[in-house]
Amino acid sequence: MPALSQIEARFLREKPFQGLRVAVSVHLEAKTANLGYVLQQGGAEVYLTGSNPLSTQDDVAAGLASMGVETFGIHGASPEEYQQHLTETLKCHPHLVIDDGGDLVHLLHTTRKDALENLIGGSEETTTGVYRLRQLANENKLLFPMLAVNNSQCKFLFDNRYGTGQSVWDGIIRSTNLTVTGKTVVVAGYGWCGKGVAMRAKGLGAHVIVTEVDPIKAIEAVFDGFDVKPMVEAAPYGDYFVTVTGDIHVINKDAFLAMKDGAICANAGHFDVEVNKEDLRKNIEGYVLPDGRTIYLMAEGRLVNLAAGDGHPAEIMDLSFAMQALAADYICRHEKELKPGLYVLPHELDVKVAQIKLSSMGYSIDSLTEEQKAYLGLK
Ligand code: NAI
Repeated sequence: MPALSQIEARFLREKPFQGLRVAVSVHLEAKTANLGYVLQQGGAEVYLTGSNPLSTQDDVAAGLASMGVETFGIHGASPEEYQQHLTETLKCHPHLVIDDGGDLVHLLHTTRKDALENLIGGSEETTTGVYRLRQLANENKLLFPMLAVNNSQCKFLFDNRYGTGQSVWDGIIRSTNLTVTGKTVVVAGYGWCGKGVAMRAKGLGAHVIVTEVDPIKAIEAVFDGFDVKPMVEAAPYGDYFVTVTGDIHVINKDAFLAMKDGAICANAGHFDVEVNKEDLRKNIEGYVLPDGRTIYLMAEGRLVNLAAGDGHPAEIMDLSFAMQALAADYICRHEKELKPGLYVLPHELDVKVAQIKLSSMGYSIDSLTEEQKAYLGLK
């Protein structure tokens, strides 16, 4: 993770988080461990928990604990244990929070308001967490400044699209040991993640059908060469169904009843609400249809790339976590100016991370000449 390593080198020299406690709730796997380590190198006391009960990797949690990072989490935690781990993480009364999906921030607005006393602000890693923050901000209920790191270009363009695109198929392939080529894949949602999942499915040889609710995204999918249909019409064709909408109940009873025998459903959206499990349980006993067809739901409907795989590749998380590290630094530097609310990081930080990443990958690019800047009206 060369971009993050460069930031780490600066943090080591400058110690921007000296004396500060940082509570982190992000999928507890190897790349997150590196983020925790980098914050620690910057002087922070780090308290870390997962952001999903099935994505925690116990060996990584143990490794972090041995490095002096207070770590809370266990793979397969029950909903109660998961809440308990979040709560434990906030017992440090943090100065900064790094959240992934909004569960930590939710606690700070409800049952753990006592842990707000030192809080300067925080940052959010994913689209669903940003939706939740936006709802709070729109109602003027957000109690501290939060940076939507998800909305930085160096995050969503690469993590959501290429990270999810690759790791979803890695998780599905390694768990099912089935081919993708020659199959029909139904991708629900053609946002940044959906584009990646559909693109990689096509590359693996699948026929791809996209379902959408946004007509503009649907046209994009058509022009990218995909078939577009409502879910219930796509259902009879799909061998694999992947939901990545951030929405609720995207695959329901009507679609399940129209699916082929052996259809595989997987979710890559943040919460396990996209495939309607209640409809599966109620209407399809043991996920076997009344006529004997079977429908498989991977990883209990939780993010398949993290619950059945190792999440995004390190090269991708290098960009996301470089932005997270810079976000933590930014909040400390701008503590006095930032009022409670939802912010995006300045574009210059995206450009800076992209420059480090490009050069670490061995690429260089042109720069605008003075003449070109004048021609483009940039000075
Ligand atoms: P996005 O906002 O770019 O795209 C979501 C798309 O789903 C939109 O185009 C929207 O119109 C569409 N949609 C909403 N309801 C729908 C429905 N009922 N049927 C069909 N389409 C529908 O969001 P993004 O960034 O692609 O994120 C999607 C989800 O994936 C979020 O929950 C996010 O937190 C999560 N995520 C998961 C990752 C992973 O590693 N598995 C990585 C990054 C994000």
